[in-house]
Amino acid sequence: MFFSYYGHSAFTIEISGKKILFDPFITSNPLAQAAGVKAAELEADYLLVSHGHWDHLEDAAAIAARTGATVISNFEVVTWLGKQGAEKNHPMNTGGKWKFDFGTVTLTQAIHSSSFPDGGYAGSAQGFLIQAEEGNIYYAGDTALFSDLKLIGEKAPIDAAILPIGDNFTMGLTDAIKAAKFLRTNTIIGVHFDTFGYIKIDHAQARAEAEAAGIKLILPEVGKKFEIR
Ligand code: NI
Ligand code: MN
Repeated sequence: MFFSYYGHSAFTIEISGKKILFDPFITSNPLAQAAGVKAAELEADYLLVSHGHWDHLEDAAAIAARTGATVISNFEVVTWLGKQGAEKNHPMNTGGKWKFDFGTVTLTQAIHSSSFPDGGYAGSAQGFLIQAEEGNIYYAGDTALFSDLKLIGEKAPIDAAILPIGDNFTMGLTDAIKAAKFLRTNTIIGVHFDTFGYIKIDHAQARAEAEAAGIKLILPEVGKKFEIR
């Protein structure tokens, strides 16, 4: 599995040759802009959107329309993006799973608000558990720490957890470390940090805190790709 990062919570995971793009916030994302990432150049076979906030779905409809990617999200998000030009959609809801050609996706609970940029109701905020032959990966979406992460950890051995670490709008690193313990994984790929003033983090301090807790913390570089093992 390969992980490419575009800043904030926008990233692509490649599994079995399929490009799975998560939470495409590119056009107004200062980290993506600084790294020269262009929404119009991103490829996708699937588009997974965690919730309705602008910093997670800004470019979703345009990318889905251009690439023909299948949008996977909750019913409300999929319906809204469908009205904006996303043609291939797979609606789900919390707790449900479906087997796609790259692996099985379970829509998981997230403790966070969710509404569309126009103020419309976007359903519940979600995370995604992906179980594939190449490995299992969990993306929490925007969320607070919650103890039912233990139930997600019991579903499958998780190779890496993609967790928000920027604090203020989501959990911060201290809670993300606790989340990793609940999930029974040793690897955190940090997202949702450094994009705006409210969520800027001290990298050296974060690395030290994770190391002291026995957690491998990856702070992905924007515009770069690496292999998840
Ligand atoms: Ni949000
Ligand atoms: Mn967010």
